[in-house]
Amino acid sequence: MPYSSEDQNWIRDQLHTQHVGREIITYTTVESTNDLAKELVTAWDKEGTVILADCQTQGKGRSGRTWYSEENVGIYLSVLLKPGLAPEQIAPITLIAGVALTQALNEFSRTRPVLKWPNDILLNGKKVAGILTENHKEDGHSGIILGIGINVNHTRFPISLQHIATSLAMENGESFERPPLIAAFLNHLDREYSGFLEEGPSHAALQWNQHSEMFGKHISLKQGTETYSGTAMKLDDEGRLVILLDSGEEMAFVAGEITSME
Ligand code: BTN
Repeated sequence: MPYSSEDQNWIRDQLHTQHVGREIITYTTVESTNDLAKELVTAWDKEGTVILADCQTQGKGRSGRTWYSEENVGIYLSVLLKPGLAPEQIAPITLIAGVALTQALNEFSRTRPVLKWPNDILLNGKKVAGILTENHKEDGHSGIILGIGINVNHTRFPISLQHIATSLAMENGESFERPPLIAAFLNHLDREYSGFLEEGPSHAALQWNQHSEMFGKHISLKQGTETYSGTAMKLDDEGRLVILLDSGEEMAFVAGEITSME
């Protein structure tokens, strides 16, 4: 069932937030909630606005990939944030969203969600949620679009995704109402975001370290045309991934893609 106006009001009633969810706009089908939120940066410009869709026809993932957005079963939402920070300071927003997602999923899932840097949330080693953070600037307005996709009640995935994707329902053997999960996520996100604005990224980095199982593992990280291999150590106080490279040198990364983990 698409979201009803009762769902929208119910979610709003559950929120005790400072920034996130002041406006919640729901749609049945959109191309991409992130793209719709970008239009809002100029037309609407209210921090904390949430765009929620039941289905996306061109859901976007990281690195130009598509996000499988089947109707009725997933959560596809974007939040417009305006922290007033320089583009190089916004990477922790993805970390904050990851922490908030694990906190929210923990309230519903018997299987513990774990974080894989920088934007994946896994259940039993498969991806259950992803984050796409985009910086948008237009006509003198600027904002960050935080896009969240959660596989909630999917019972199967296209063959190409079956080995890497899962859903909350598939891992727990039951289906879930989407509005309580959305409200829990928005409340956690608001708390983590407020903490970040007040204290910087160190708190989120600490939390992130506690919700990940990648540390101590040997990883390969691709950044542009370069690939770095070594042991993942931790996120440092600035939210950067510290790797002890096979060469013995320690390096901290703000961005990149993990291509293997053993
Ligand atoms: C990833 O893991 O690659 C990021 C996935 C992000 C998907 C969400 S769904 C809602 C929002 N709108 C989009 O087009 N993408 C994000």
